[in-house]
Amino acid sequence: MKGVILAGGLATRLRPLTLVTNKHLLPVYHKPMIYYPLEAMVKAGIKEILLTSSPHHAGDFANLLKSGEDFGVRLYYAIQQNPTGGIADGIALAREFAKDEKTLVILGDNIFSFNLKRIVDKFQDKKRGAVIFGTEMDTTSGQYGVVEIGKDGKVLSIEEKPKNPKSEIAQTGIYMYDERVFEFIKKMKPSDRGQLEVTDLNNFYLKEGTLECETIDWWIDAGTSPNELLRAGNMVCEKVKEGEL
Ligand code: DAU
Repeated sequence: MKGVILAGGLATRLRPLTLVTNKHLLPVYHKPMIYYPLEAMVKAGIKEILLTSSPHHAGDFANLLKSGEDFGVRLYYAIQQNPTGGIADGIALAREFAKDEKTLVILGDNIFSFNLKRIVDKFQDKKRGAVIFGTEMDTTSGQYGVVEIGKDGKVLSIEEKPKNPKSEIAQTGIYMYDERVFEFIKKMKPSDRGQLEVTDLNNFYLKEGTLECETIDWWIDAGTSPNELLRAGNMVCEKVKEGEL
């Protein structure tokens, strides 16, 4: 299984911090933000990882992470020409890299300590489908995709940043896809904000009945605001003290 970490976007919500620096290079407690999704991939047993970023910052990631040897993985780099083309546009860059393998995708600003290994291993044995990861939190801010889950544990709907959320389960930036993901992306059209939305992508799997949702404990999207960036740093500090990170 291949890994894809997305580190594009313009991070306007964190300006002026991100005027000259890529968001994913900002510190979250004692490490650059990008270390967290990368180390989550390493813990999950992924050995080959593609990091996608914008034309301006790709060199910074190569300077920092190099070949990936220090992390025990092999890193590859891809440029997303339009850094706000959308998450699915970023994932599409992995087409040749992933070839006929499944992919684990993690957004570069996602901070969590949940070990994905067990679920990754289970997914490798599955014939087809996708897995998204949800977490219970206040979804009324309109900052997240929201997942509605039925009594039997099946996903009923996923909506991107709804005004009236149907549940308190936010869609995190952790996704697993089978080999057909690139075919689905080819069929996609940009949303009203001009992006190929990950929620639209996940809805292809939902429609055909092959989408599963796993829930994880704590999770922070450190890119949503300076407050969340600070909260992520404090949370990591706490988890480091507890020996969880
Ligand atoms: O983090 C979870 C949320 O991520 C989900 O709940 C939403 O359903 C999903 O759409 C996404 O929402 P965001 O508004 O947080 O997405 P954002 O634009 O901040 O981008 C998330 C990450 O993906 C960030 O690390 C930058 C990267 N990215 C984003 C875009 C739009 C790219 O690499 N390329 C892109 O074109």
